[in-house]
Amino acid sequence: MSQNSIILSTAEYVRKLLTEDKSGHDWWHVYRVWNMARKISIKEDADLLIVELAALLHDIADWKFHDGDISIGPEKAKEWLDQYDLNNEVKDSVSRIIRDISFRGANEEPPPLTLEGKVVQDADRLDAMGAIGIARAFSYGGNAGRIIYDPDIEPILHDSARSYLTNQGPSINHFYEKLLLLKDLMNTNYGKQIAIERHRFMKLYLDRFYEEWDGKL
Ligand code: ADP
Ligand code: NI
Repeated sequence: MSQNSIILSTAEYVRKLLTEDKSGHDWWHVYRVWNMARKISIKEDADLLIVELAALLHDIADWKFHDGDISIGPEKAKEWLDQYDLNNEVKDSVSRIIRDISFRGANEEPPPLTLEGKVVQDADRLDAMGAIGIARAFSYGGNAGRIIYDPDIEPILHDSARSYLTNQGPSINHFYEKLLLLKDLMNTNYGKQIAIERHRFMKLYLDRFYEEWDGKL
């Protein structure tokens, strides 16, 4: 099977698996991450096959919905790839990327990433920013039963995965707890350039949100 066919059949597998997802990890999230990862990969001269497979498979089993088990995603990805005649190095790299980019250890240093891991993580982070990131935050918040805003509830800078997960704050707080921090966490130059633009748009959105909240506009 050609590399291209492996990528396309993996895309089809993930599309079927995630079509029903309501948690912000639907197929179209993966599709956007895949596209963006390809773009960044070419600019950064990363291994495109590893990047594409990791981008496609990165959200097939989110640890947040499996009792914090971070091994399910990488294992499921490996099982999928095992049917193909691919280099073991490729399979291992892909599964390691999925493990490492989703890692949210309490107070722990983030694991070191390969160039390909950095590319996929940037693409995933970019999809939480800008106009799309705003839509995803309110969609996730609505699904989790959270209100959009409450001026009396301050954002919390969660320093542990548990506190981040059990948080029930309004969706606007998520901007301060995560989305506005992403710009300074980008790994690649090209990712950073796009992040700056998306960050600017989120700030603009928040300014406008408060103006409307106060009835000024
Ligand atoms: P990733 O795709 O990076 O793994 P997450 O699983 O953390 O992202 O979240 C999926 C989407 O839901 C992202 O766009 C994220 O910003 C959003 N989200 C996560 N937690 C919250 C929250 N507490 N409030 C609002 N949006 C959230
Ligand atoms: Ni994702």
